[in-house]
Amino acid sequence: MISEKQIESRIEALFKGLAFPDRPENVYAPQRYMISIGGKRIRPRLCLTAYAALGGELLDEAVLAPAAGLELFHTFSLIHDDIMDNSPLRRGQETVWKKWGDDIALLSGDAMLIESYKYMLKAPEKVRSQVLQLFSENATKVCEGQQLDMDFERRESVSMAEYEEMIGDKTAALLACSAGTGALIAGADENSCATLYGFGWDLGMAFQVADDYLDAYADQAVFGKPVGGDILNEKMSWLTVRALEKTDNRAGLLQLLSRPAETQEEKAEKIAAVKAEYERLGVPEEALKTIASWHASAGEKIAHLNLGSVKTQLLARFAHSLIGRVK
Ligand code: IPE
Ligand code: IPE
Ligand code: MG
Ligand code: MG
Ligand code: MG
Repeated sequence: MISEKQIESRIEALFKGLAFPDRPENVYAPQRYMISIGGKRIRPRLCLTAYAALGGELLDEAVLAPAAGLELFHTFSLIHDDIMDNSPLRRGQETVWKKWGDDIALLSGDAMLIESYKYMLKAPEKVRSQVLQLFSENATKVCEGQQLDMDFERRESVSMAEYEEMIGDKTAALLACSAGTGALIAGADENSCATLYGFGWDLGMAFQVADDYLDAYADQAVFGKPVGGDILNEKMSWLTVRALEKTDNRAGLLQLLSRPAETQEEKAEKIAAVKAEYERLGVPEEALKTIASWHASAGEKIAHLNLGSVKTQLLARFAHSLIGRVK
């Protein structure tokens, strides 16, 4: 069976080996930059792990190219997301729009999205149309979720169900698609592909709640993104949605959440005040419990597949590697 070590080293080689044309420089330099500054590469790893667990035996182009395509799509979404969130820092480095401006960030991101399709097209002919269908459906979801995320910034009330719909679309869909793609290319039956999709979905839900938690509580040097950014952007993060549900002083909390903060000092004060409110309400602990419960749900899904202990363990270790993440 394909081992984690093999998956790791193939992913490493895959992204080292990605070549970008030299010209036009302003299309490809931002792409080269984003790939070279790394990232955790969770989506290709999940795709290859699902492939191996569902009986895929060969780490060849037919699975490596789609795995790369998933990461290219993800990277495109980050380039645009950083414009939308006005975020100056990504993977510990300046964001593309900060370095090159919005126009270049938009177009190099668009070109990367198109490139991702060329990679998905390299899936084996037998499952190619299913892979493309799955990818397109979930890529649409990412756009829908991103718009809901932006729309929610302007709302005073978002239910937990609406929040879950939003993060399901913007984040869980692509992790689900990554796992489902690996299963499809391994030649798994419909039921197993759907189960892997659900496994990826639940991990994606845990992943975004953890991202929201870390946005307020991570060490910025490790997290690589500006800590407190969600608070300053007035995002309906898990922490804010839950705090608004629990508070006995909704008007006061809403006023604090929408308080303008211009200077560095005002920003730091606002972040500290909002976090104090989260803590007073016991929200951070609940976020950690919610993350654990999505993980448990992911684990139950694969337990029902009867893959045998070695293959089930491969998936379980992948899931476990995301728990307690600090970046
Ligand atoms: C960031 O994704 C966007 C979210 C869905 C939370 P990652 O945390 O996977 O980002 P990189 O690729 O490792 O930088
Ligand atoms: C983004 O969510 C999810 C995407 C589809 C890019 P966030 O806006 O929370 O992601 P980060 O925190 O900037 O990585
Ligand atoms: Mg965003
Ligand atoms: Mg963002
Ligand atoms: Mg975030």
